[in-house]
Amino acid sequence: MAVVPYKDQNDDKKSQVATMFNNIADKYDFLNHFLSAGIDIIWRKKAVSLLAPEKPKQVLDIATGTADFAIETLRLNPDKIVGVDISEGMLAVGREKLIKKGLTNKIELKYGDSENLPFGDNTFDAITVAFGVRNFENLKKGLSEMNRVLKPGGTAVVLEFSKPRSFPMKQLYQFYFKNILPVVGKIVSKDNAAYTYLPESVQAFPDGKDFISIFEEVGFKNTKWHSLTFGISSIYTGKK
Ligand SMILES: C[S@@+](CC[C@H](N)C(=O)[O-])C[C@H]1O[C@@H](n2cnc3c(N)ncnc32)[C@H](O)[C@@H]1O
Repeated sequence: MAVVPYKDQNDDKKSQVATMFNNIADKYDFLNHFLSAGIDIIWRKKAVSLLAPEKPKQVLDIATGTADFAIETLRLNPDKIVGVDISEGMLAVGREKLIKKGLTNKIELKYGDSENLPFGDNTFDAITVAFGVRNFENLKKGLSEMNRVLKPGGTAVVLEFSKPRSFPMKQLYQFYFKNILPVVGKIVSKDNAAYTYLPESVQAFPDGKDFISIFEEVGFKNTKWHSLTFGISSIYTGKK
């Protein structure tokens, strides 16, 4: 059974995820930085730095949300970054941010489903996705689509939560993730489910070697796994 945000509803995971992110879009950036004490910013920087040697010119940021990862990727001086997402609410917050920062000529945000990407084969030099793959309805389909639109020799970088496994970080993290984060998240976002879905979806998501096996199964090569901050997050890279 897929982990979904609103268990009392019959909609599929994709519609529920889009609804949830539409509901929390205005508070998403604040909660992200507040609940992670700003560490998410460091994780995105690290993920982008792994792409630096590739000097990608055409970049696709999947599940771009409010465009933080796309904006960070500008450091690599690409010609163009396209960000896609299924939540119009998140994209609207992202577009406002781009206008304020004067970045609309470099980053384009558009509606797009990772499981059916609106691009031809072999289009991008690099593909990034931060905290997105866990939300896909069909993980293998989403990763296969990433592989399809990546140019041969191009690199995909996936940043996602994982599960710390050693004492005492495992216990501290579980306490925080299950008892504190859902309460603060609910009060600030006013969405009853979003910050309960977060720990539940992380718990159910394949991490580490399990993720790497699926990544390779859909065609990625030279895969690498970098564990961050005691294993709370991981970066996975792979080449086409
Ligand atoms: C946790 S947010 C991450 C946003 C951004 N990448 C970041 O680093 O802050 C997850 C995003 O994934 C998007 N998403 C979930 N499933 C998707 C899909 N199938 N295709 C595209 N975007 C999707 C959600 O709408 C949401 O904006």
